[in-house]
Amino acid sequence: MKMFLDSAKTDEIQHALELWDVDGVTTNPRHVKDSGKPFRTVIAEIAELFAGTDKAVSVEVDPNLTDWEKIVEQGLELSKMSPNFVIKVGVSEQGFKAIRELSNQGVRVNATLIFSVSQAWQAARAGAAFVSPFIGWKEQHGDPASSLIPEVAVMLENYDYRAEIIAAAVRNSRQITEASLAGAHCVTAAMAVYQDSFCNPYTNMGEEMFRSAWDATPES
Ligand code: E4P
Repeated sequence: MKMFLDSAKTDEIQHALELWDVDGVTTNPRHVKDSGKPFRTVIAEIAELFAGTDKAVSVEVDPNLTDWEKIVEQGLELSKMSPNFVIKVGVSEQGFKAIRELSNQGVRVNATLIFSVSQAWQAARAGAAFVSPFIGWKEQHGDPASSLIPEVAVMLENYDYRAEIIAAAVRNSRQITEASLAGAHCVTAAMAVYQDSFCNPYTNMGEEMFRSAWDATPES
């Protein structure tokens, strides 16, 4: 399962590349705002970090664009900035049409803000390279989310759609586990979520126990 960092902060991305060799990045307008830098500046900096690799960097079009032609125009323009860029498009009615057009023109699209199988189906039909069900948001709103990824996975497989599932807005280790068991191709989460999910108090306790034993044992 590919590991994407959900961030637009270049220091975090660099750290995640060094530590974990992450497979790519997903950004969204909120992440870009949190980076404190202008949109074009920050995406150019992120592109630089991935230059020469085949890793995916998802960059979202202006969500104020509600007309498919405008979404396509901006998507094409952004995609020319870097071969790593995957264009993120929200799954509105106009968004689906834009996904189809961009995909037909050879641009990889990440269909974002997916909350149902039918949205994922329509995005896959339109040729999206990635579909992003937002697991964390669903759970946050009290909706059961654990069935969404397994159902999307079955739907894609039943009809042989090429779209890869990104388990998105992932908030904890359990959601990573469920995504992996359901066959999600990728997971995207914030740095802190990964750091937390890779730790366990028993690991720390065991390391301390083994250190004490090592220190109390003659080496030869
Ligand atoms: C995924 O592609 C999104 O960027 C992301 O997961 C959105 O959720 P968040 O910013 O609330 O984590």
